[in-house]
Amino acid sequence: MAFSVVVLAAGKGTRMKSSLPKVLHKVGGVPMVQRIINTVKSLGADNIHLVYGHGGDQLKATVVEENLNWCLQAEQLGTGHAVQQAAPHIKDNEDVLILVGDAPLIREETLSALKAVKENCDLALLTVNLDDPTGMGRIIRENDNITAIVEHKDATDAQREIKEINTGMMMMSGADLKRWLGKLSNDNAQGEYYLTDVIAMAASEGKRIQSAQPQSAVEVEGVNNRLQLANLERALQRRQADELMTNGVTLLDPARFDLRGQLDNGNDVVIDVNVIVEGKVTLGNNVIIGANCILRNCTIADNAVIEPNSIVEEADVGEGCTVGPYARLRPGAVMQKNAKVGNFVEMKKAVLGEGAKANHLTYLGDAEVGAKANIGAGTITCNYDGVNKSKTVIGENAFIGSNSSLVAPVNIGKGATVGAGSVITSTVDEDALAVARGKQRNIPNWPRPTKK
Ligand code: UD1
Ligand code: CA
Repeated sequence: MAFSVVVLAAGKGTRMKSSLPKVLHKVGGVPMVQRIINTVKSLGADNIHLVYGHGGDQLKATVVEENLNWCLQAEQLGTGHAVQQAAPHIKDNEDVLILVGDAPLIREETLSALKAVKENCDLALLTVNLDDPTGMGRIIRENDNITAIVEHKDATDAQREIKEINTGMMMMSGADLKRWLGKLSNDNAQGEYYLTDVIAMAASEGKRIQSAQPQSAVEVEGVNNRLQLANLERALQRRQADELMTNGVTLLDPARFDLRGQLDNGNDVVIDVNVIVEGKVTLGNNVIIGANCILRNCTIADNAVIEPNSIVEEADVGEGCTVGPYARLRPGAVMQKNAKVGNFVEMKKAVLGEGAKANHLTYLGDAEVGAKANIGAGTITCNYDGVNKSKTVIGENAFIGSNSSLVAPVNIGKGATVGAGSVITSTVDEDALAVARGKQRNIPNWPRPTKK
């Protein structure tokens, strides 16, 4: 059956003490509201209505999603009032799933279960039992049947003993929802239009109300302040780490691993502590990532090793390569099979051919290095004249002596050798030796200066 989703995200989030709307704060590197939208999209929602209030411009700039129906709730008069803003766009003959924008860890499986419950009743509610339900709406049951939700502030002492609470997520038909929304009043302790009042209306019409529960309470936990945000971040990281380990990744300490995006892995990947993975990262079989590395939107092929304290960003590391320790691969860095980059080497928009090496203290920018070339310590491709960038091409098997400056644009032929300390400004032919440095002059018996 067709279904739409309403995400309630108009709340201000005062306790975040932030100029950013609450739902734009990130969990696992993704804004909370975007995470929820991603989840409902994979559930196959036909329409998503986002009820927003504060920071509309910021929200619209951040949440780039086609087919998102933006519903402004100019004044926050309660959750029922919030859903009313989406009501004109809701069809009678579709089901409507209502979600809160600040509970980012809800899983697709849980929402599917709620949807399945709705198939066999009129109103499906996602509830959870909490040891401390303070502040939450309580689920009222008579002979086990749900008859109402009572908000904490409106509840009697006896009702406050109830541990089963409303998560704020529920599903019903568009026709029922709209009929009930039309009857809401704000005659309650908070003077708000409560969405939760629709439950008693459903019960009084004799509708069948059923509940579903999430696997764990963190899925429905909301974020009101930065402490809660940090708790959910940890919970998400643990969930992701568990998935990766189940998928065959060895995490030397799952509590010291952060994934802010998507990681695809081969077999027998080993990741040491304090590694941060961002964006979309792919690791082949037997890849080893040393401690304190940052991997961002990159691909690392089978048997490659990234030694500690290296940063790999928008780069492509080939099979059997080694990188680092302390290396930095910037956007456009490509290392072909078995190439090697050592400590304090930086690559940007540069290709290091098969088996080529740059083992120490080097900058390769806008460069093409042929197979098996050896780039000596301290080599710099001088790719920038202050205005334009130019390219350096180094042929296969070339040998660049230590501390050479290659002033681009420049070509170094196959098998050519550059003497250490050279400043190369023009073509070096294949198999030739180029030495471009001050000649050594020895002065015998030279007296050192003495103090005056
Ligand atoms: C609500 C529920 C409560 C439930 C709890 C779960 C009601 C009346 N109460 O309480 O039963 O246990 O959530 O967290 O529904 N929002 C708007 N516009 C508004 C008010 C709220 O968009 O005018 C949004 C908020 O941004 C938030 C969500 O609705 O995403 C929930 O609002 P919140 O104020 O946190 O509701 P609670 O009082 O916690
Ligand atoms: Ca809340």
